[in-house]
Amino acid sequence: MTGSRAAGEWVPAEVDIDRPSAARIYDYLLGGGHNFASDRELAARLLAAQPNVREIARLNRAFLRRAVMFMIESGVRQFLDLGSGIPTVGNVHEIAQNAAPGTRVVYVDYEPVAVAHSRLLLADDPDAVIVDADITRPDDVLDAPATRRMLDFDQPVGLLAVTIGHYIPPEADPAGLFARYREALAPGSHLALTHLTDDFATVDGERIVETMKATQNNVFPRGRQEVLDLFAGFELVEPGLVTTSQWRPENGFHEVRDVQQDALYAGVGRRP
Ligand SMILES: C[S@@+](CC[C@H](N)C(=O)[O-])C[C@H]1O[C@@H](n2cnc3c(N)ncnc32)[C@H](O)[C@@H]1O
Repeated sequence: MTGSRAAGEWVPAEVDIDRPSAARIYDYLLGGGHNFASDRELAARLLAAQPNVREIARLNRAFLRRAVMFMIESGVRQFLDLGSGIPTVGNVHEIAQNAAPGTRVVYVDYEPVAVAHSRLLLADDPDAVIVDADITRPDDVLDAPATRRMLDFDQPVGLLAVTIGHYIPPEADPAGLFARYREALAPGSHLALTHLTDDFATVDGERIVETMKATQNNVFPRGRQEVLDLFAGFELVEPGLVTTSQWRPENGFHEVRDVQQDALYAGVGRRP
């Protein structure tokens, strides 16, 4: 590791603080404090490429909350959160356990800061855990002892893949990968996902892709059909595949806005 540890003791030893990561850039965009100068510089470049990127992140996080609440209302009491990120405002276990005490949550991430802080946060919660794994290796995730201990795959699971699909390169076969996760789930399970798209003229996909090449996480925007394919065999609940702010907006959310600026497709599907 190079660079100074200006951020202090909380930095796990294996972190490369000079190479920005998606987890820490996202943390910074949401107003969090677990990021380094390199992440903030990259975020500034991202803001130049896509000036509303903070809003994109905020709307994504708000979608995550509504999707979790929808699943809770549908009877889901256990969640598998792929690419869960650095704990921030409105974590899945907080939302879910507040609404339904005892709900179990398995977080999965491979970014050392995300893993370390999730571990700290969850130390006293017997119903939530972080699995340090690469989600492109589904067996590592699904067969992890903590996953098996926490989740009952004979019962419905809420699978969360929120701003994670676009980090999966084509050679890792995103459709096949999602199929592997979906197949592990019982009827009544749900999948919620958001995914970067360059279908919209208001999103400079090429510039975002170029900017993110300097990070540990390249991005791969995808078109509507490719995103729909990630739900294969699941039935999309109303209103189908839309953008983050359009998915079941809450009462009072009547902003007049160009929803294409959300930049992320969002949807929830249910295994029949
Ligand atoms: C933008 S954050 C999203 C956090 C959260 N899901 C949300 O939407 O609020 C994306 C996260 O995915 C993680 N990630 C990316 N590729 C991954 C992989 N192959 N395995 C595990 N985690 C991954 C990153 O480390 C990062 O924490």
